[in-house]
Amino acid sequence: MKYYLTTPIYYVNAAPHIGHAYTTIAGDTIRRLKRMQGFDVVMTTGTDEHGQKIERAAAAAGKSEQEFTDVISGEFRRQWEILGIEADRFERTTSKRHERVVQDLFQRCLDRGYVYKGDYTGQYCVFDELYVTDAKPGDPCPDCGRTTETVTEENYYFKLSAFQQKLLDLYESQPDFILPESRRNEVLAFVKQGLSDLSITRTTIKWGIPVPGEEKHVFYVWFDALTTYISAVDGEGLWPADLHLMGKEIVRFHAVFWPAFLMAADIPLPKRIFAHGWLLFENDKMSKSRGNIVRATPIHKTLGTDALRYFLLREVVFGQDGSFSYDALVGRYNSDLANGLGNLASRTLSMIHQYRGGVVPECECGDQRIAQIATDVTSSALEFYDRFDFSRALETIWGLIAAVDKYIVEQAPWKLAKSEENIAPAQLDQVLYTAVEALRIVTALLSLVIPESAAKIWMQLGFGEPVNRIRTADLHWGQMPQKQTLGVVSPIFPRADAKASIDQMKRLEIEELAHQYALLGKTMPPEEAMPATPAPAPVTSANKPAQTAAPGGAKPAASAEFSQITIDDFIKVDMRVGIVLDAAPVKGADKLLHLHVDIGEPQLRSIVAGIAMAYKPEQLVGRKVVIVANLEPRKLRGLISQGMIVAASLEGGSPVLASFLESVPVGARLK
Ligand code: MSP
Repeated sequence: MKYYLTTPIYYVNAAPHIGHAYTTIAGDTIRRLKRMQGFDVVMTTGTDEHGQKIERAAAAAGKSEQEFTDVISGEFRRQWEILGIEADRFERTTSKRHERVVQDLFQRCLDRGYVYKGDYTGQYCVFDELYVTDAKPGDPCPDCGRTTETVTEENYYFKLSAFQQKLLDLYESQPDFILPESRRNEVLAFVKQGLSDLSITRTTIKWGIPVPGEEKHVFYVWFDALTTYISAVDGEGLWPADLHLMGKEIVRFHAVFWPAFLMAADIPLPKRIFAHGWLLFENDKMSKSRGNIVRATPIHKTLGTDALRYFLLREVVFGQDGSFSYDALVGRYNSDLANGLGNLASRTLSMIHQYRGGVVPECECGDQRIAQIATDVTSSALEFYDRFDFSRALETIWGLIAAVDKYIVEQAPWKLAKSEENIAPAQLDQVLYTAVEALRIVTALLSLVIPESAAKIWMQLGFGEPVNRIRTADLHWGQMPQKQTLGVVSPIFPRADAKASIDQMKRLEIEELAHQYALLGKTMPPEEAMPATPAPAPVTSANKPAQTAAPGGAKPAASAEFSQITIDDFIKVDMRVGIVLDAAPVKGADKLLHLHVDIGEPQLRSIVAGIAMAYKPEQLVGRKVVIVANLEPRKLRGLISQGMIVAASLEGGSPVLASFLESVPVGARLK
């Protein structure tokens, strides 16, 4: 029986971080679970390498698109190796095979009458690679706050509107098609509002898969990217996928566009879509502009990969948002792994070495009460795992660890070993067998989440076969081979000194960041390389340097991108020095701020600016800024905006406001 699952294919405009690792680790855990359940499992991951963002990132790095994507894609592949991910397929959207499969899908949609040609003019967000409906020229993108670009192009359209009812029928007939329930409701509400046709080709971009017979067109990145799930296993009889895993922000693409494309092409639909929540850093969104992105490698080097895998799956309820912090990571490592599991393993194995020469004693299958607890825990843990409720599965398994710990304390094997009573040796055999059999079951159940450490304990238990050969039937109580000789005992999870390990992770984070800057062809700004206080990236929410310092290098002046203008053209732009008198967040738009700016006129200017991710309102009040004063006023989120604030747009779109080193009077003109 096959089981085919996928993670998203990650954009190569940035190097991997723990957000990407989170989904991939969850996928890997499911992959191991399905293997344990007896399926022939295949997991696909990969990289999404086309589109304007990548075109620009490559240009900024001074590389060709192909060179650039080779490097970053390699970085993702390396990351999954470091994290012990068993990815069976690593598909890149730049592969030839993928290109052919995308073109076939398009042809099938075209042949069946679901694709037509039309003209389109609209406001386009380059960053999100989406047209913004109802936006006017100069409007910011409602998702990221970056200024949209006006784009007119001849497109091929996909008749998404023809699939509204079919999609609703799908969600109705398969209530678990989209999980968790909250995401399903969100998608249902979206589809019920009505669906507009979707433009699926672009003429504004060169870096993409060409549309057959249409020189200027390349496929829209999502039409291209989603098809990876099929191209990765082309001709292997694995389609349809049993599971697509992803973060909640891309559920719509998977649950609406993707099934519609497949229905149009008469291709079977995936069976399930599971969208998990967001991993935050100390309850804050992780982002480049906030300088609070956490990478996996420093954690792997300090506490081991399993510490990260365990933390992510234990701490965060899969499906909901959750928070990462170094303190919580080290706390869980010490309490659950070092004290809990590590302690049970070393105590049990050492006692068998000490009292029974390292050979598992013969006994009538151990203590029946513990046997019952182990049986119950195994079945609940497997059930929780099967529902992808990893945190409860782990919590349940720790229930067994606690029960065995208590049992050992109550039975006091160290006293039995010294006792002169006739029955003491048999009792000691029973206690030792019970403990080691429970440890075997715990280790096998945990091998889905902490494979590397489980493999080590497995060897110490004396097994020759790897732990990943275990199937669910092997989890029944009483299968620890009597008389098995144990391996050499060595500690699995040495206790971590919280301060020293956090310091080390932060130091390594800087090294990793420098490595990533180098990959992207940039030099790390010195303020990001300082390990002193205020803390380097990652930072606490109280001392975020990214809010005042420039993260990432500025994009090189892209003179080739723009045609030349005359001085007369330039003079038309009226730029003035202004002072911000007040600033406030805009309700419902977390990227926007509403400012009142004095530019030396009788009336203050009301200005809505997409700078909230980089500046707090209180940082702006009293600050001199540059305003484009003769822009046509427009309304944003119901507020009038009478001008634009001038800022440098860094790589990734983070704004840094233009300012002056010398004192300048309010109202002065820039020319
Ligand atoms: N290329 C698209 C996906 C195409 S799939 C056909 C894309 N790439 S991405 O690099 O932006 O990766 C997004 C995915 O990475 C999320 O859906 C999620 O799986 C994972 N995550 C990235 N950051 C994350 C968090 N901070 N928290 C949780 N998951 C995150 O979108």
